[in-house]
Amino acid sequence: MRVLGLETSCDETAVAVYDGDAGLLAHEVYSQVELHAAYGGVVPELASRDHLRKLLPLLKKVLAESGGAAAIQGVAYTSGPGLVGALLVGAAVARSLAYAWRVPCIGVHHMEGHLLAPLLEPDPPQFPFVALLVSGGHTLLAHVHGVGQYEILGQSLDDAAGEAFDKTAKLLGLGYPGGPQLAALAERGRPGVFRFPRPLTDRPGLDFSFSGLKTAVVVALRDRELDDQTRADAAQAFEEAVVETLVIKCRRALAATDARSLVVAGGVGANRRLRARMLAMGERDGVRVVYPRVEFCTDNAAMIALLGHLRLAAGQRDDLAIRARARWPMTELVPPAGPA
Ligand code: KG4
Ligand code: ZN
Repeated sequence: MRVLGLETSCDETAVAVYDGDAGLLAHEVYSQVELHAAYGGVVPELASRDHLRKLLPLLKKVLAESGGAAAIQGVAYTSGPGLVGALLVGAAVARSLAYAWRVPCIGVHHMEGHLLAPLLEPDPPQFPFVALLVSGGHTLLAHVHGVGQYEILGQSLDDAAGEAFDKTAKLLGLGYPGGPQLAALAERGRPGVFRFPRPLTDRPGLDFSFSGLKTAVVVALRDRELDDQTRADAAQAFEEAVVETLVIKCRRALAATDARSLVVAGGVGANRRLRARMLAMGERDGVRVVYPRVEFCTDNAAMIALLGHLRLAAGQRDDLAIRARARWPMTELVPPAGPA
């Protein structure tokens, strides 16, 4: 089955085509980063309007690259969680195309897409595996038994890891989005100048809490001259604290589940220090650590087309309704039903 996937949940407009036999045929992402940079964060109304402008040209391009509209046998779109106005653009276009082309349509979960993104790679991990999802909106650890079978082992009680990166970057005077900029600044930081806490690692459990970290950064920098080196040293120590916390919790989750594979997905999964540290941990403990390639860690439609394919090819379909959900707990997800 050949599936078109659309992603418009936040500030990336993305389109992809995934084929059950041939794999990923085409994918394009347009990032609105520059549009929102002036405001220091995503402005929902501007995001929706820009998705409207960019979605159809991207769609044309991807269809041209992948063998045309006539070969599409199903349409998938991100129906949540995300900004409702932004989601509605992708949902309305996807549902209309499916209606016009007389093919089935399905709205899928953005985070489930991130979680299964490593299945786009040539040597995908086998179920069951432990997955660490670290994005701007979510931080969670799940035991993944199969498609739609997610046991949530722990999650953030406050800020998501990416959110903590973005907020701390702002404190350090960096632009939006802060995560990659803070990571770049941290490269020049000297280890050991600052030390920030590893939240919730001193007690059992797999939940996270990152909001206290930015306060720790504020306190440490109070009454100091914020020259370039000091900011880099703070960025280094902040990144180190987040990365070490994530590694400790992943090790715990692997021990608790006896899983032999760990998947790290979501935007923060693009962080180089995190990637290196997790790989080193995996090598030490005999665990396979799998990352989607960087472009499939951040928001993209390849993961949405793949997930849509997994569900549509198993016979799952939506009715004619257009679905957009700001919130959608992963625990509500179910495995795709077999063909009717
Ligand atoms: O998954 P994603 O693209 O969008 C969401 O669904 O949230 O994740 C975006 C988040 C942002 O908070 C961004 O700052 C963070 O991922 N991020 C990074 C890096 N690249 C993106 N954080 C740390 N280091 C990076 N290299
Ligand atoms: Zn995302």
